[in-house]
Amino acid sequence: MNIDIAEAPRTQDNVLSDDIENRLKEHYDSPNWRSNIAERRNQLTREGYVRVSDLLPDDLKEGMRAEAREIIDASERRIDIRVAETSNTQRKLGSVNVRDIREHGNIIPLLYDSKQLRRGLNDVAGHSVLDCDWENERMTMTRQTKPGDTHGWHWGDYQYALIYIVDHPPIECGGMLQCVPHTTWNKDQPDIFRILTENPITTYYHEGGDIYFFRTDTTLHRTYPIEEECTRIILNFTYDGPDGVEKERSHETQSAIYDW
Ligand SMILES: [Fe+2]
Repeated sequence: MNIDIAEAPRTQDNVLSDDIENRLKEHYDSPNWRSNIAERRNQLTREGYVRVSDLLPDDLKEGMRAEAREIIDASERRIDIRVAETSNTQRKLGSVNVRDIREHGNIIPLLYDSKQLRRGLNDVAGHSVLDCDWENERMTMTRQTKPGDTHGWHWGDYQYALIYIVDHPPIECGGMLQCVPHTTWNKDQPDIFRILTENPITTYYHEGGDIYFFRTDTTLHRTYPIEEECTRIILNFTYDGPDGVEKERSHETQSAIYDW
């Protein structure tokens, strides 16, 4: 039987998805976005990090942040573990996995799959930014609230992460991102503390609403521990790129944080 697609009823999600795609297309076509792509690409290559807080129009970003807060309130699980494959560094935080994000989210899953958003990321990366081939790692969230909460030193299993800072405390409370770009993860012998002594560490402070894109497979990174009770919430989109496609992978660190 032939189904006339034009006659098929349109769901709310279709309408929202089309709306997001149209908004983002206009956004990435705008002279504002197109004017500083080269500088961003250079910074990403140089530092393994680039801030792209204008990746989303403001109202869409606010909708995403509100949805993220609802998801974490509904689904957070606290963990306090150390991970052998990253020199026993600590993960002490609340985490949310992809199943809960898909169940409770609406805008957020559409953004992960958005062709236009990917076009914005391709602009910044200078090549195709690809789906992460492991569903569990595509979208995750963390919340840090207690003194000592940290996402300790680690690398990513995939080439890129796009991080939305949903909420961030003042700088006096800690929670900054620290990065050591152009480093290599040997899971059998991670040697993180030696790498830290041999390379400069760059520290980035963010505010709620900031967005950054970074090269997680070759950038050793952590969040500076929270100093006092406060709230730091992030949403993480993991993507791959050309350098990751041929790689063999295991997922020990992510499974320890988000698999339940
Ligand atoms: Fe990370």
